Amino acid sequence: MAPPVALTIDGRAIQAAPGTLVIDAARANGIEIPAFCYYKGLSLQAACRMCLVEVAGMPKLMTACTTIVSEGMVVRTDTPQVAEARKYMLEFLLTNHPLDCPVCDKGGECELQDMAFRYGAGESRYTETKVHTPEKQFSPVVFYDAPRCILCFRCVRICDEGMGVKALGVINRGVTSEIAPNHGDHLECDECGACIDICPVGALTSGAYRYQTRPWEMDHVGTVCAHCADGCTTTLGTRNGRIVRGNNRDRSGINGEFLCIKGRYAFDFNDHPERLQSPLVRRNGKLEEVSWSEALATVGGKFKAALEAGGAFGVVGSNHTSNEENYYLQKFARQALRTNHIDHHRTGDVVTLLDALAPRTGQMATFADSYERQAILIVGADLALEHPLLSYQIRANYRHHQARIYVVTPRPVREDNYAAAVQRGADYASLRPRLQAEPELVVLFDDSVKGDAVRKLVEFGESLGIPVKYVCLVDYANSRGALDMGVTPELLPGYQLSGQPGMRLDEMMAADLDVLWVVGANPLKNGAARKAGFLVVQDLFLTETAAQADVVLPAASAYEKNGTVTNATGEVQRLTRAVETMGAKTDLEIMGFLAREMGVAALLGPWSPSAVWEEIRSSVPGYAGGRVPVEAKVEAVRSDHNGLFASGTLGRYSKVLHSVVESRQGR
Ligand code: SF4
Ligand code: SF4
Ligand code: SF4
Ligand code: FES
Repeated sequence: MAPPVALTIDGRAIQAAPGTLVIDAARANGIEIPAFCYYKGLSLQAACRMCLVEVAGMPKLMTACTTIVSEGMVVRTDTPQVAEARKYMLEFLLTNHPLDCPVCDKGGECELQDMAFRYGAGESRYTETKVHTPEKQFSPVVFYDAPRCILCFRCVRICDEGMGVKALGVINRGVTSEIAPNHGDHLECDECGACIDICPVGALTSGAYRYQTRPWEMDHVGTVCAHCADGCTTTLGTRNGRIVRGNNRDRSGINGEFLCIKGRYAFDFNDHPERLQSPLVRRNGKLEEVSWSEALATVGGKFKAALEAGGAFGVVGSNHTSNEENYYLQKFARQALRTNHIDHHRTGDVVTLLDALAPRTGQMATFADSYERQAILIVGADLALEHPLLSYQIRANYRHHQARIYVVTPRPVREDNYAAAVQRGADYASLRPRLQAEPELVVLFDDSVKGDAVRKLVEFGESLGIPVKYVCLVDYANSRGALDMGVTPELLPGYQLSGQPGMRLDEMMAADLDVLWVVGANPLKNGAARKAGFLVVQDLFLTETAAQADVVLPAASAYEKNGTVTNATGEVQRLTRAVETMGAKTDLEIMGFLAREMGVAALLGPWSPSAVWEEIRSSVPGYAGGRVPVEAKVEAVRSDHNGLFASGTLGRYSKVLHSVVESRQGR
């Protein structure tokens, strides 16, 4: 590694790696240089001139965001000349700015407001009428108010470079310059809201949040997105018991500030008017509202009677409930109900992958691998639509590290635009010569590769003679956790063989079970009729399955509970309760109360999330792998292939997702 460069900033001796920008060297040493257009991770723009500094020997002030450190450089950020330059730049930026902070969504979080306060003049010398243009709506999600725009081009760059969408550009010249959408007057884009989030002022605002509240009136709760399996952290802004905003501006979690439309806006399913708020019991063919105690007594009594009569139980777990809930559910099924008929909707063949790799455990790629490894092979998946964060991360790997991306998909995908090689179809083997020449590889594959095809893929990886890691893509927020926690007949928590026969999900749905207990899933969504003698469903909504139940128990959403979930790349992350819905209980509470009704609570142990988590930690081995029976059926492994504007059952109850889909249909 090249030796560091020595320089001084404001009289302080500083060392920085060669190639470091002065602004970064200063910030790394606690010296703040104001900036609007500079944004770490995006290309340089040098548009706003806020970052001007004095550099000894230079005739004029220099932009710290484009000046690279050099040996012996002497930089000053605190001279009268610099202060004056900042003041004049702010005066320019405010020339046509409307000063409507009291009604602007950004008020209280606005970088221009902060800078004007710290570096600006108390008054403007401009007396001319300000140029004004009316606000525009670019899409159901994105609104643009040109007079507030300071033309920093962050939005244009995040959309182009970060999202790979290129939906925003600039039109006109001089004071009439404006940001414009890619299709005349409207956007055709991912509707991710990244442009809104990154805008330093209130020029871009969101249809979902605007004019609802002020930042200081909200509580801010960090938790994990309830939708896909990528596992973004989201900060939910809540007010009066409602979620009003989702963002990740503190850049916590694996996603930094990234969120797709679902994480940023589709929290609105949570207070959909059709949320269940009371238990329902079927009487004379109709579901009627009853008290919790009556519903729990009905279910507990029925479970107990069926158990005593030697009845057959089936249990269906969820891709959305927490690890603690899935763990407790399988324990309930196996130890209290004495059944091994337990499964969930599997959306990727993680089980075969772990088995094909066994006994090696270090070849499951982490999320960080998708950003750090030098070559990526994508098999089958349309990442930009189905795994937006992984797509974003791989794009960043390409931009920041020049990673080579290899694409083997049936249809064109966004990754084609920067791929080292594209193969349409499924024939990844034809890329062998290119892949063999790589120093390392991460392979991501979807449900088009399952069963023996997974074993073949792993054999192919082995044959390359380079370190290879894998990601088996799964659909939902806790798809991976449901597998990890043993919600399958063949495997116990931690992928230990159960050694017991048990029905898979499709077999349970076709069987004449005495009792079927469905926790957070909708296996009858395709309209099939139930077969079980007694059906209990825990869910947020009256789904197709719940509508056929004998008892429906209203469940809390992921935003209403504590616990953990595990994303597609195996990171275990913490859920934190942000709000509550009257009448609903968490699935763990419901299971705990049912255990008490049945007199098996002592057998199953405490049911608080922290107690169950401790039990998981102490009793579940790591992903040790084990030989999975070769006859394991994989036909039922099926991804829902949700695009950006769908999210299984939850997506059906999101107004924001509907509004985007409808706006496109209307064109
Ligand atoms: S919402 Fe996302 S995809 Fe659409 S213009 Fe903004 S950054 Fe681009
Ligand atoms: S809309 Fe916001 S992010 Fe885009 S150029 Fe204007 S001020 Fe910058
Ligand atoms: S990429 Fe997935 S986890 Fe991240 S915000 Fe979107 S739906 Fe949520
Ligand atoms: S931050 Fe340097 S010119 Fe904008």
